[in-house]
Amino acid sequence: ASNKLLLFPGDGIGPEIMEEVKKVISWLSENGEDTFEYEEGLVGGSAYDVHGCAISEEDMVKAQAADAVIFGAVGGPKWDDVPYDVRPEAGLLRLRKDLGLFANLRPAICYPALADASSLKKDIIEGLDILIVRELTGGVYFGEPKEIIELGNGQKRGIDTQVYDSYEIERIAGVAFDLARTRGNKVCSMEKRNVMKSGVLWNEVVTSTHKADYADVELEHMLADAGGMQLVRWPKQFDVIVTDNLFGDMLSDVAAMLTGSLGMLPSASLGATDETTGKRKALYEPVHGSAPDIAGAGAANPIAMIASFAMALRYSFQKIAEADMLEKAISNALDKGLRTKDIAQQGEATITTAQMGDAIVAELNAL
Ligand code: NAI
Ligand code: MG
Repeated sequence: ASNKLLLFPGDGIGPEIMEEVKKVISWLSENGEDTFEYEEGLVGGSAYDVHGCAISEEDMVKAQAADAVIFGAVGGPKWDDVPYDVRPEAGLLRLRKDLGLFANLRPAICYPALADASSLKKDIIEGLDILIVRELTGGVYFGEPKEIIELGNGQKRGIDTQVYDSYEIERIAGVAFDLARTRGNKVCSMEKRNVMKSGVLWNEVVTSTHKADYADVELEHMLADAGGMQLVRWPKQFDVIVTDNLFGDMLSDVAAMLTGSLGMLPSASLGATDETTGKRKALYEPVHGSAPDIAGAGAANPIAMIASFAMALRYSFQKIAEADMLEKAISNALDKGLRTKDIAQQGEATITTAQMGDAIVAELNAL
């Protein structure tokens, strides 16, 4: 079978790291059972320069038709002053919204070779492998009313509204439980039911979803603030964490930093599964941005981008063996001491973006 990818390199280091993913895609097409076809689209500043908007309608149509969207990064000082609705991030937000990507998956994995280099105690992070599932399209970032009003006495009031409907909680819980079954079979749900009505509902719906369809999975509830503390104190107690948009934004950034550089962190954003085709919309991207400070220097770490593609193999194409292989290849390259600048310790030799990509392909060949 052939699998259709749409690549959006984007801006800054985006195109540089996407080149390295293309090497992996070619390798898989030549050495695997299936082939991968890809097309490329423009997003962010690079789309603005050509089309005057952050993503064209044509590319949106292609994104809808693709089996998976692979996204680099957008933004940079060149576009700091473009109008708000066509700013680079608008391209990513449009993709998330139109593809209905409600589940954001952020793994925090500690590669053995980097455990020593961490500023944290080695026993806390060695072997760490957790997955944060963040609700991405609801909650306080989108709830109405959302405004700043004049109170008339020289004071103003800023208002954001946390809103969750039960269907939104049920579907994100379902994603978390399904994922847990493929891993450690354990979910921890985090909210603040002690002070938030949406937290009470969150807790209720996660509990009833568990009871109805996922009683085989171990479920635990934690208040999100206590969860943050536990995440730093003893992260290995967790397997899958499911939480709302706001808490997930913060907790996933905290979890990310347990394991090291921004250049190492992949993510996936998933939509609903189409009942007739069995396919689900999905976008895979590194957690980091376009790193304008190092763009063009060959200094970018391509691992976050390549590991994001490994997530695409796992979650969009059910190519579990290939995803495992690719992750193993990354790990082996690190074991050999290969380091881009961002993950090198003082005095360690460094390699370029392209050399890291080549090294990972060489490790694939050696497996
Ligand atoms: P950033 O993630 O681009 O960079 C932060 C720091 O990490 C920089 O020093 C950068 O050199 C380093 N870094 C990031 N990725 C790296 C990699 N793969 N290898 C080595 N070093 C890496 O965040 P920053 O500087 O706040 O934002 C830069 C631009 O990116 C802005 O225009 C921002 O709006 C945009 N951005 C885009 C995102 C996206 O496309 N999803 C996400 C975050 C920021
Ligand atoms: Mg964040």
